[in-house]
Amino acid sequence: MALLNGSAKTMAEDVYHPAPEIVQSAYIPDYDAVHNEALADLPAFWGSIAAENFEWYEQWHTVLDDSNPPFFKWYVGAKTNIVHNALDRHMKTAARNKAALIFEGEPGDTKIYTYQQLNYEVCKFASVLRALGVGKGDRVTIYMGRIPQLMMAMLACAKIGAIHSVVYGGFSTEALHSRIEDSASKVLITCDGAWLRGKTVDLKDIADEAVQRAGTIQNVVVVKRTGQEVQMVAGRDHWYHELMALPIADPKATTEVMDAEDPLFILYTSGTTGKPKAILHTHGGYMVGTATTHKWVFDIRPEDVWWCAADPGWITGHSYIVYAPLINGATSIMYEGAPTFPYPDRWWQIVAKYGVTILYTAPTAIRGFMRFGDSWPSRHDLSSLRLLGSVGEPINPEAWKWYHRVIGKEKCPIMDTWWQTETGNFMITPLPSVALKPGSATRGFPGVDLDVVDEDGHPVAPNEEGFLVIKRPWPAMLRTLYKDPDRYVEAYWSRYQEQGWYLPGDSAKKDEDGYIWVIGRIDDVIKVSGYRLGTAEIESALVSHSTVAESAVIGVPDELKGNVVHAFCILKQGVEPSEKLQMALRDHVGHEMGPIAKPAVVNLVDSLPKTRSGKIMRRVLRAQTLGQEVGDLSTLAD
Ligand code: WT7
Repeated sequence: MALLNGSAKTMAEDVYHPAPEIVQSAYIPDYDAVHNEALADLPAFWGSIAAENFEWYEQWHTVLDDSNPPFFKWYVGAKTNIVHNALDRHMKTAARNKAALIFEGEPGDTKIYTYQQLNYEVCKFASVLRALGVGKGDRVTIYMGRIPQLMMAMLACAKIGAIHSVVYGGFSTEALHSRIEDSASKVLITCDGAWLRGKTVDLKDIADEAVQRAGTIQNVVVVKRTGQEVQMVAGRDHWYHELMALPIADPKATTEVMDAEDPLFILYTSGTTGKPKAILHTHGGYMVGTATTHKWVFDIRPEDVWWCAADPGWITGHSYIVYAPLINGATSIMYEGAPTFPYPDRWWQIVAKYGVTILYTAPTAIRGFMRFGDSWPSRHDLSSLRLLGSVGEPINPEAWKWYHRVIGKEKCPIMDTWWQTETGNFMITPLPSVALKPGSATRGFPGVDLDVVDEDGHPVAPNEEGFLVIKRPWPAMLRTLYKDPDRYVEAYWSRYQEQGWYLPGDSAKKDEDGYIWVIGRIDDVIKVSGYRLGTAEIESALVSHSTVAESAVIGVPDELKGNVVHAFCILKQGVEPSEKLQMALRDHVGHEMGPIAKPAVVNLVDSLPKTRSGKIMRRVLRAQTLGQEVGDLSTLAD
């Protein structure tokens, strides 16, 4: 790799070159050549990929319509359905009898679905949804544990042209309520409960409370998973297995013909302020982008067993558990439960049991396993692994090296993929043929035009911190924020409006070799164990408690979780501060938002640092908490 010859001495020993046989057999052996070719003509690049690897009912007349930025359109005029490419077309090939999904339940039950079987279930459920009055453009909220029916529900929606809005099963009442309401979903698909660490999470109870707060849901479909007692509201609630046994569950469901630009799903994610943002993705561009990045970055071959250990409720799961692997005809693992249940070797047992060849997970999970030491993974045969992946937050070099040595036995390249809910697919990522530096996601995926710039948009000097920007559109990009195009423009395109660049909201450095080192968020988004949380949503959960007048939350670095939430609350007049109240406030956030949002620390305070215009200065709280210099205080009110 000529590129790295100029590396500084101190860096050189931390460069991992891929073995020659990996480079030779890779889909893209020469990154620079393909990247440059793509940049020279983006529409030609993405046009030929789309034509060669996907089926379309009708061809596009324009690959990229950039006449009305930032509202870009891809494959304009084309007709397809992502489910046609994920399922229907495999029914005509040998893939029909291949395992699409290998499910391992936390209690130890397993279930394997071939493409044929998965398609059968999806068709039946698609017919059920149609019978419930769901059609093209309708929103359906899905709130479930990590079980196959979650995937089936998503695919069934997509098949009939409905827009799914999956809410992560770890979220709770208010988070679910606000997402149902904002999307105005008519149908909610949930389950009785979910298994977690040998206990059950009462999803149906949470769903009931959320549905009560929201006025839009007409039908609730409930999958039986844990078998726990739940209340079924007559006329509103239906058991999934009962619906699927009725004649309305017709396995001959047709796949809706969609415009490439028709919405596929919305997925809520946190932004700087206010309520979560409803990121909107489409059938055409998202399909091409996710499948292509998956295939090239993880070198997907017919014999692979792919395990993306994320949750389908986040974009990682949407793109790389559900859609891309199916489009690529891969075999996927889905594991329901906690990584360390009943013992810290559960994952490694699964790798050995199914012969997993590619494992994709988050730095926080890796750091968690490191704590238990090398002996847990070492007692299992991990020799089937050939590639590893990381996502969600910057991976610290120690964790990278442990992953590489103990899990990958020093033979598996690690694909550290930087991307976002908004981007739909990997944006900064190695390919198997690329030299790696632990802690750097390397460079842009072919065709991704990015840079690190200062306030004015000038590139910063090597190894200096700046704002990450993406300079040109890509097929899987978000199209807008659902029902809020102004906020879409404001949130992502206003900072570098003149240049027409997309602002992801991360700071980064670029080294002498052009390698990107992502540092972290520049806004009030907090990454807890790789989960993206917004300060605003947690703060509003806190002030919804009867004792809290005002609150502010910040992220504080944590060795295991990346960050943890610290909360500062001003109590209402006459409320006595106490340790018991601090605990109650933590639990309240858990009840409203979900366990992941629970503050590690709740400080009860008399005042909060604010600007004269009344904005809370979270950086002051952060500096105080970390014992750092507070910096410029000229705008502080008092
Ligand atoms: C934010 C997006 C889409 C993947 C899951 C997260 C951070 C993500 C990396 C990485 C450094 C990363 C960024 C980004 N992030 N991957 N490999 N290295 N940081 O999606 O929930 O939309 O969060 O996650 O800060 O902006 P998300």
